Amino acid sequence: MTTRPRLGVNIDHVATIRNARGGSHPEPLRAAELAIQAGADGITAHLREDRRHISDADIDGLAALCRHSNKPLNLEMAVTDEMLAIALEHGPHAACLVPERREERTTEGGLDVVRGHNAIAPVTRKLRDAGIRVSLFVEPSLAQIEMAEAVGAQVVELHTGAYCEAIKAGHADQARRLLGALKEAALEASRRGLEVHAGHGIDYDSVGPVSRILQVVELNIGHFLIGEAIFSGLPGAIGVMRALMNQARSESSV
Ligand code: PXP
Repeated sequence: MTTRPRLGVNIDHVATIRNARGGSHPEPLRAAELAIQAGADGITAHLREDRRHISDADIDGLAALCRHSNKPLNLEMAVTDEMLAIALEHGPHAACLVPERREERTTEGGLDVVRGHNAIAPVTRKLRDAGIRVSLFVEPSLAQIEMAEAVGAQVVELHTGAYCEAIKAGHADQARRLLGALKEAALEASRRGLEVHAGHGIDYDSVGPVSRILQVVELNIGHFLIGEAIFSGLPGAIGVMRALMNQARSESSV
């Protein structure tokens, strides 16, 4: 028996487009409502330190929407006192701790839990004490997973960026190797009792192989879906992604 993976829709880049003109259109909240209507299992948003896309007001609105719709809000956040206070104020279903550097275009690489555990452990504890599920966004590395368990995280989100880039570049051997690392990391995390999510860079070509990893229970997908929505609408893009996820999972053996 295989369970279909959940789809978390990351709506950051609706805010990127809105912010390009400084007005209120297109509204991330409206996109989140539409995504939920189209079958998203949850909404993901990253409140960055520099507020380059999602704003504090967006998080207010998304938290209220997810509460009313009974859908999980997954707040991606850096390990800082400011973000911890915001997470504790809103009490999202989950907080995904990510690395953040101002100069990066997107989240490049996973959180270094091995080097940063002294800072990550207390934030994890405070979030968990408030009833927020803690997910750590990590590279598919056994050392990072071992440390994720040690600091008390309940979930690891495996960074699929390198794998997805290899697929896009047509580097089949590299993609096979990177997919192997994702599978091994997913198995190890699950063996340690951690829930396994995956995300970053996923598109229609890479979603199938990631969805076939049986330990992966949730995918968080943003940029491609928002871009593809220009051509086929957000419900259309979500529908295709969901169908590809379900098909891949149904084909994978237990
Ligand atoms: N998961 C995490 C932890 C992320 O930081 C991001 C990017 O914000 C995503 C998933 C979604 O990545 P993408 O926008 O490339 O689909």
